Amino acid sequence: MASSSATGHCLFLALLLLSSAAAYGQLSTSFYATSCPALETIVRSVVSSAIASDTRMGASLLRLFFHDCFVQGCDASILLDDVGTFVGEKTAFPNVNSVRGYDVINNIKAAVEANCSGVVSCADIVALAARDGTNLLGGPTWSVPLGRRDSTTANRNLANSDLPSPASSLSTLITAFGNKGLSAQDMTALSGAHTIGFAQCQNYRNRIYNDNNINQQFAKQLRSTCPNTQGTNDTILAGLDVQTQLTFDNDYYGNLLKNKGLLHSDQELYNGGSQDALVKNYSSNSAAFFADFVTAMIKMGNISPLTGTAGQIRANCSVVN
Ligand code: HEM
Ligand SMILES: *[C@@H]1O[C@H](CO)[C@@H](O)[C@H](O)[C@H]1NC(C)=O
Ligand SMILES: *[C@@H]1O[C@H](CO)[C@@H](O)[C@H](O)[C@H]1NC(C)=O
Ligand SMILES: *[C@@H]1O[C@H](CO)[C@@H](O)[C@H](O)[C@H]1NC(C)=O
Ligand SMILES: *[C@@H]1O[C@H](CO)[C@@H](O)[C@H](O)[C@H]1NC(C)=O
Repeated sequence: MASSSATGHCLFLALLLLSSAAAYGQLSTSFYATSCPALETIVRSVVSSAIASDTRMGASLLRLFFHDCFVQGCDASILLDDVGTFVGEKTAFPNVNSVRGYDVINNIKAAVEANCSGVVSCADIVALAARDGTNLLGGPTWSVPLGRRDSTTANRNLANSDLPSPASSLSTLITAFGNKGLSAQDMTALSGAHTIGFAQCQNYRNRIYNDNNINQQFAKQLRSTCPNTQGTNDTILAGLDVQTQLTFDNDYYGNLLKNKGLLHSDQELYNGGSQDALVKNYSSNSAAFFADFVTAMIKMGNISPLTGTAGQIRANCSVVN
């Protein structure tokens, strides 16, 4: 009696585990294999045309994914427009007049909907677009775990509090990533995303006028277009990688060794602290950087996804169904 009841319990537990795995289980690289086999071809082709007309877009799409995942998890919350009394994340400080690529995501969604309607989440489209943006600018490629669903909410306060500022110290950066389950090594590898793309004067002004750990020639050059006056040339752009802003390579780390990080937060990774050795490693070992970047991107893509029946598959990425 006792043993058959124990067996019953075990069966019940096994079934419970199975059903909870279906509802909350891991993402899978083959999630859309039968429901939308053309998905990845479509995403890559739209990202590829977007980059052909604006090379920077590869960087912008990579950043969009980071700013999605760090706020409520990778749930496409960043894509929701402010409508009526609904306040989204687009106007949060780290995002407003800065995050780009919303139109590209909408174009991908339209193309995907035309091929397999109502099946693919906006959150997965953002994850695939970030991978393709990285790869099309010369970075690594990888299989993206899929099966995320879209949020029905967004949170501007969380976007303001959880996305790290460019004024952050190393310990603040390590804590901010640690809060999302990412290690200091993940943080340093993911920061290598700053091998592509640009930043606005208002985000590096303090560094080029007030930091001591900056190459003087580099600072002087940047000061010639980014004056030390708030409100003047605030949006003038400089490459995050002083050499090749449109190529995903490991120059970012070599720049840090020369005190040529553009953001204060960049140079914090190589300023006598715990990440110095890893920065040196990546600067001379692009294979190690690429491998660790991919690992960390997959980890970042796993931040609190909505799966199973949670959330929804938005019909329009900008609004809740
Ligand atoms: C470590 C903490 C980080 C801080 C403080 C930070 C901060 C910033 C800032 C201030 C900008 C410039 C925005 C502007 O001036 O409009 C920027 C750009 C960018 N960030 Fe980060 N970031 C961080 C980590 C990351 C991560 C983890 C990724 C992706 C994996 C990423 C990808 C990018 C890209 C690609 C750009 C250029 C975007 C474009 O040109 O459109 N960043 N970041
Ligand atoms: C979806 O796209 C694939 C690849 O482009 C194509 O072969 C297929 O016919 C399309 N299906 C629909 C329903 O549009
Ligand atoms: C603002 O940027 C322009 C264009 O790069 C530059 O020519 C000008 O000198 C800058 N203004 C100041 C006050 O630095
Ligand atoms: C560099 O990083 C790679 C990958 O993480 C690791 O295998 C290697 O031991 C590291 N090398 C050094 C010198 O730290
Ligand atoms: C998606 O929703 C936004 C916001 O309501 C709207 O402006 C846009 O036209 C919609 N897009 C499509 C394709 O319906």
